[in-house]
Amino acid sequence: MSELTTEISRRRTFAIISHPDAGKTTLTEKLLLYGGAIHLAGSIKSRKAARHAVSDWMEIEKQRGISVTSSVLQFDYAGCRINILDTPGHQDFSEDTYRTLMAVDSAVMVLDAAKGVEAQTKKLFKVCRQRHIPIFTFINKLDRYGKSPLDLMDELEKVLGIQSYPMNWAIGINGAYQGVYDRTKNRIELFADDSSHGQKERVSEIFMTDDPEVISRIGQENFDALHDDLTLLDEAGEKFDRDKIARGELTPLFFGSAMTNFGVKNFLEEFIRLAPPPQPRKIAFEISGDQKVTSNMVIEPDDQKFSAFVFKIQANMNPAHRDRLAFIRICSGKFERNMSVFHSAEGKSVKLSQPQQFLAQDRQIIDEAFPGDIVGLFDPGIFGIGDTLCDERFKFEFEEFPTFPPEKFARVQARDTMKRKQFIKGIAQLTQEGAIQLFHQAGVGTESFIVGTVGTLQFEVLIYRLKSEYNVDVILEMQPFEVARWLRFDDGSEVTPENLHGADRGMFVLDRFGNPVLLVESEWSLGWIRDHNPNLEMNQNPFSKGE
Ligand code: G4P
Repeated sequence: MSELTTEISRRRTFAIISHPDAGKTTLTEKLLLYGGAIHLAGSIKSRKAARHAVSDWMEIEKQRGISVTSSVLQFDYAGCRINILDTPGHQDFSEDTYRTLMAVDSAVMVLDAAKGVEAQTKKLFKVCRQRHIPIFTFINKLDRYGKSPLDLMDELEKVLGIQSYPMNWAIGINGAYQGVYDRTKNRIELFADDSSHGQKERVSEIFMTDDPEVISRIGQENFDALHDDLTLLDEAGEKFDRDKIARGELTPLFFGSAMTNFGVKNFLEEFIRLAPPPQPRKIAFEISGDQKVTSNMVIEPDDQKFSAFVFKIQANMNPAHRDRLAFIRICSGKFERNMSVFHSAEGKSVKLSQPQQFLAQDRQIIDEAFPGDIVGLFDPGIFGIGDTLCDERFKFEFEEFPTFPPEKFARVQARDTMKRKQFIKGIAQLTQEGAIQLFHQAGVGTESFIVGTVGTLQFEVLIYRLKSEYNVDVILEMQPFEVARWLRFDDGSEVTPENLHGADRGMFVLDRFGNPVLLVESEWSLGWIRDHNPNLEMNQNPFSKGE
């Protein structure tokens, strides 16, 4: 095997998705603990606590410093190179959270056993589903009383529409499980008490199922219950099917407790075995000279020709230099420091200098990287979300990034009208970076804009960056809308505030490409509009960008 194929086959690049408080941070930390990247659990947790404790917005750089170093964690485990991409939740929830999912090959969905599938999990799951990536489910907090495993499986199917295959099964009494039955290895693992408060690996003992000691350890009743459950799963449950897992139609299910290290190692090992290495990517256009031709090719990760795309831009990493980092996901070939590549958006070559990677908490300059890896590049203001970087011998563009429907809207204007020029420049820059989505209210000039986001933190970032980078104070008025619908008439005629019945039931705006969009307070308000505009088509995303 060549160096490239060896490196690709050992990479696992994934994100952990969950609703806040389900245990994403704790599980991440435990994976690092087992991977040997940290010695004592607790360090990420305390950083997280520190982050939430910081209320003064002027501390944003510090906070970003933290969120950046933790946005990609890389470590080795059992010969594999693991890249975990952070998907910020809580008040940090933003489009970046969704976009990160464009850069992974699989996702781990963490559910709180007592709460099951929650709102944010649903949103993130939907994005993974659209990409058909494998989703692994970790049911967390098994040390406490929760919903029954069978009910949770039912919930996955009913709420998310995904079938599950339990890889292990909890043994004992709900709230005080003693161990797990491993369905792949056909053996029982019983855990000793967690004597280190989760700071160390949990000690366990392994038994074959016919070992008489098992019954004396777990009791006849629990043994019989386990037997009944397993029979039920074998007879009525889904069959293990690797192809279905690869397509994201069947989720391998694990039970455990991140806090007490119950079932964490089992999860990590099986995950590494089943999760895919970097996958081929679809190409949208091939470029030759000035010509851009639609393509239906894919680029394989082991193609010698380098390619990558930008999935995240982080500004203000260092306030003294106003630097910006563009995070790229490598898709094919080998990345080498100072290499020159073709940047499709600008139509010219760029040199990739100062590439950085993140190892636990440290940033470091790297010399090489491989498909599946995430690299931070110094960005002089040329990169945009979704941009393709590729070998000059084969120029192409990956499929465009989807835009994620904004759910929060605000009217933004410069406090001082004399600063309008800087204001417009700043807004344009932040839109290009993908930090906000920009709309114009029809009939209103450029004094004010409507800004859409998926999370409220994006507004705070907007205010802060306009002030610090463009020296503009803004007035921001939140709008009551939560739903945006792109509009078109089925006969191709233009949609305007005048010919759209009920345009005044929401706000009629144009996106940055001039496409008509209606903002309304709830999906419910769309019913009237639909009934009174029979030729109208409504979409959660632009029908086609730049249309
Ligand atoms: P998040 O990143 O998904 O938001 O969740 P996080 O890991 O921060 O966990 C949220 C809370 O759930 C934390 O408690 C954490 O300790 C707890 N937790 C995580 N895994 C388990 C588990 O397996 N069992 C139990 N019982 N609790 C778990 P907290 O009170 O918010 O913080 P802390 O006081 O523990 O630091």
